[in-house]
Amino acid sequence: MILVFLGPPGAGKGTQCKSLVDRYRWCHLSSGDILRRERKEGSELGRKAQSYMDSGKLVPDDLIVAMMIKELNTASCGKGFILDGFPRTQGQAEELDKALQKMGRRIDVVLNLEVDDARLEQRVTGRRTCPVCGTAYHIVFNPPKRENVCDKDGQPLVQRPDDTAEVVCNRIQAYHQQTAPLISYYSKQKLVKNIDGNVPIDEVTKSMFRIVDGLSA
Ligand code: AP5
Repeated sequence: MILVFLGPPGAGKGTQCKSLVDRYRWCHLSSGDILRRERKEGSELGRKAQSYMDSGKLVPDDLIVAMMIKELNTASCGKGFILDGFPRTQGQAEELDKALQKMGRRIDVVLNLEVDDARLEQRVTGRRTCPVCGTAYHIVFNPPKRENVCDKDGQPLVQRPDDTAEVVCNRIQAYHQQTAPLISYYSKQKLVKNIDGNVPIDEVTKSMFRIVDGLSA
């Protein structure tokens, strides 16, 4: 199974991917998480990506495509994988198609998580993340049991540097200009399943499982 997750910043892609991984044991390849790991490690890619990420712009296609194709080829994802945040431009989508063709594989489904712009800023600015296990919380919609502490490992939660109101505006703009056109790119291939992401987290999860259970049955 190869599943692509589309949706604007803060739509809930990462949150829902965790539920998919728990249920189906697929690999979760998040381009944002991989870039943040590269930055933490101080790699050349991480240094090149930094200014784009901090200002809410997309990192250039050549860097992203090379990074993600390498991950696809090296990750041990026998049962399948979820691509979260990649592809994000038509150029990336075309390169992904070519790489999968070489591997003798193809995308099975594109889940498109639809959330109104008006909700995104609150979701993004209220997000707090565990720096160790990566679990994302929300100060209002999905708070941890103890304020600002991860339920799983007791670590103090942190806020991503690009989760400010100013940067999220640029990220939403980049989404509409460069990523939203992929909905029609994949619709032409009859791969898209829309999910209403405006409702509470567990309701989104139920709708998503209904779709994905149907595919993998
Ligand atoms: P990336 O890390 O991919 O960020 P993003 O796409 O902007 O997505 P987010 O991680 O912000 O949101 P999400 O949809 O995962 O939401 P979450 O589940 O956490 O990318 C960061 C940067 O890296 C980009 O700006 C770019 O610079 C670069 N980059 C990455 N990939 C790239 C690519 N392919 N090409 C070029 N550049 C790339 O949820 C958000 C919050 O809402 C949480 O607090 C959560 O608890 C809460 N929440 C979730 N669902 C609900 C719900 N249903 N109701 C209420 N609250 C909810």
